[in-house]
Amino acid sequence: MVQSSADSSPAKWHQAHTSWFFETFILDRYLPSYRSPDPRFRALFNSYYNSVGQQPDKALRSTFSRPSLGDVENYRRHVDNHMLELLQSPTIPAAVEELAELGINHEQQHQELLVTDIKHAFWSSPLRPIYQPAAAFAPKAATVSQRFREYPGKLCHAGSDGSSFHFDNEAARHKVYVPAFRLALRLASSGDYLAFIEDGGYQRPEFWLSDGWKAVQTHHWAAPLYWESSDSGWMQFTCSGMRKIAESEPVCHVSFYEADAFARWSGARLPTEFEWEVAAREQTVHGNLLENNSFHPWPAPAFSQNQPVQMFGDAWEWTASAYLPYPGFKPATGALGEYNGKFMSNQMVLRGGSCATPASHIRATYRNFFPPETRWQFSGIRLANDGN
Ligand SMILES: [Fe+2]
Repeated sequence: MVQSSADSSPAKWHQAHTSWFFETFILDRYLPSYRSPDPRFRALFNSYYNSVGQQPDKALRSTFSRPSLGDVENYRRHVDNHMLELLQSPTIPAAVEELAELGINHEQQHQELLVTDIKHAFWSSPLRPIYQPAAAFAPKAATVSQRFREYPGKLCHAGSDGSSFHFDNEAARHKVYVPAFRLALRLASSGDYLAFIEDGGYQRPEFWLSDGWKAVQTHHWAAPLYWESSDSGWMQFTCSGMRKIAESEPVCHVSFYEADAFARWSGARLPTEFEWEVAAREQTVHGNLLENNSFHPWPAPAFSQNQPVQMFGDAWEWTASAYLPYPGFKPATGALGEYNGKFMSNQMVLRGGSCATPASHIRATYRNFFPPETRWQFSGIRLANDGN
């Protein structure tokens, strides 16, 4: 039931809400014999779909002592069994197949949130519990010296070509002219970020956007979320408990404002989402993703063939791009049109997935988005610069 911030949700709620998604958008519509175990769940576990009906304040989710965890587990089984019944029927409507695929992708998003929300909850608890004692950490590695690769300016395609599953916000595929740019081959490391802190980065307004500087003052930011200064140096809270900062690991749990200020201090900038996509399209999806069960970013491997590393996994990469509809964007029809489209203001795009993202969930065209102050996700920094 623990909900340690307004951004996060209780684990029990995630389980109920992902079940609710299949019930509301598939079973209620396509399985005539379906009955909910409790019709009140329709409103209780609605996250933000106004076309479905009213929903409780997000901040109240920690007060849902009823239904019990056992009742939520039963709800889950009930929904699973009926989904199986529907998917085993001789003819499955195309809409059911599409919605089931969306439901599974929706659940993958909540699986990632489960990890980030539990991490925040455990960090908030005075006892600082450990989520995963046997976490597989990458062997200690030296920091690879940062390098940039030059990409020539060209007319590119951005967005999904529609050949495999994608969210509505990845369409329509369209042409974008991407001028020449340079992209950092690895993510910014904790050591790189430490140099920014030690150079007074958080005390020097010249590096910060106006709203970012305001956020520094308001929240008394002096380091990334989960970093703590101690007698023996900087420590960080991880899913495996408190440990020393490893300078070779990517910095993460920074806001867009911190990423942007760090980039300015570095004499660089953040990449646009299109620059990022140009570089990512050359690569297959591999990296430190959820399946590694590390739940922590790993140091960059050595570069080979001038290819950027850590494009997928480790940490979501803040881009300089505001989260906006692509030309030709059409939200899904009905209530599911609220899935992505209505959030297209005051948020920034992040790319590439993190150490909590399932490998089958991420791709070069995937657009994640968060408000610029957000820090509880595994969000990190890749630098860019203008090319020649
Ligand atoms: Fe959801």
